[in-house]
Amino acid sequence: MSFRVQPSAPARPNRCQLFGPGSRPAIFEKMAASAADVINLDLEDSVSPDDKPQARQNIIQAINDIDWGTKHLSVRINGLDTPYWYRDVVEVLEQAGDRIDQIMIPKVGCAADVYAVDALVTAVEAAKGRTKPIAFEVIIETAAGIAHVEEIAASSPRLQAMSLGAADFAASMGMQTTGIGGTQENYYMYRDGQKYWSDPWHWAQTAIVAACRTHGVLPVDGPFGDFSDDEGFRAQALRSATLGMVGKWAIHPKQVALANEIFTPSAEAVQEARDILAAMEQARKDGQGAAVYKGRLVDLASIRQAEVIVRQSEMISG
Ligand code: COA
Ligand code: MG
Repeated sequence: MSFRVQPSAPARPNRCQLFGPGSRPAIFEKMAASAADVINLDLEDSVSPDDKPQARQNIIQAINDIDWGTKHLSVRINGLDTPYWYRDVVEVLEQAGDRIDQIMIPKVGCAADVYAVDALVTAVEAAKGRTKPIAFEVIIETAAGIAHVEEIAASSPRLQAMSLGAADFAASMGMQTTGIGGTQENYYMYRDGQKYWSDPWHWAQTAIVAACRTHGVLPVDGPFGDFSDDEGFRAQALRSATLGMVGKWAIHPKQVALANEIFTPSAEAVQEARDILAAMEQARKDGQGAAVYKGRLVDLASIRQAEVIVRQSEMISG
């Protein structure tokens, strides 16, 4: 380990983030009643320009009136390249009560973008005497965002989570696809007459995980657009969990249960992790640093791997 110890990410479940347009208040109660850990009320790309002012008012009313239970409640503001974002911040934080937990900043391209929102949020908090500090989450969904991902992860003590936004990311990168996450038809290896599909999102995900883990931020996988394709969602989410991400967005309520299932360590995985910890405890008593568990090597690093799974499971079950 480096002399600089890796900080922990916030210890709260973030298995599923359910999105809903701020211009569609009829679904807010259904979002609150869902099993998602995080709720994202949207002012950005699911709300048309003419509807932005009304959507802000809908969201303010919903924050104040709806019982959100223990959910982490977040509002996605518009990007810093729009004329909307400052009013999103000012109106929501001046008029909504303390129930709001977080602001999501889309299309972040550099640490200064987060600094700008931080300055505005800090001023509104002080002016209104808000006592509960607002957390931030950001979306990496541009070429600049991924190029500057580490400085963004380090940008503010408010920052709790970072998502990969596949659709805008693909557009910004000039990727030749209209798919939102998952397998892309033309991204394959070819050998002996067979196609083998590969994962075009993989490197961006791992870059995000590394930046997040370095700075104690939760890495999250973004949307999977084809909500009719449960197995496609499952495959994408399983890859993300294997890479170290803690959750995934739901852009339709039917994706919530899938995300919760995949990002909750299974009973078998937790039992295996506990068995490895027990095997290593026995090895320690025997004066060994390495041991054999089910025919394979386990050593001190295996303790750290197993603890990731046990800790995640215990944190989720509260
Ligand atoms: N949260 C909670 N409930 C939702 C919901 C959501 N995001 N989207 C739909 N529902 C509800 C519907 O009201 C309906 O409820 P009912 O059975 O009581 O009538 C039920 O779930 C089934 O909805 P369905 O008819 O399949 O979907 P739809 O056509 O109404 O809406 C979308 C589909 C994709 C437009 C909608 O899910 C949506 O707006 N998703 C979020 C988009 C978004 O926020 N994007 C920004 C981030 S990428
Ligand atoms: Mg986007």
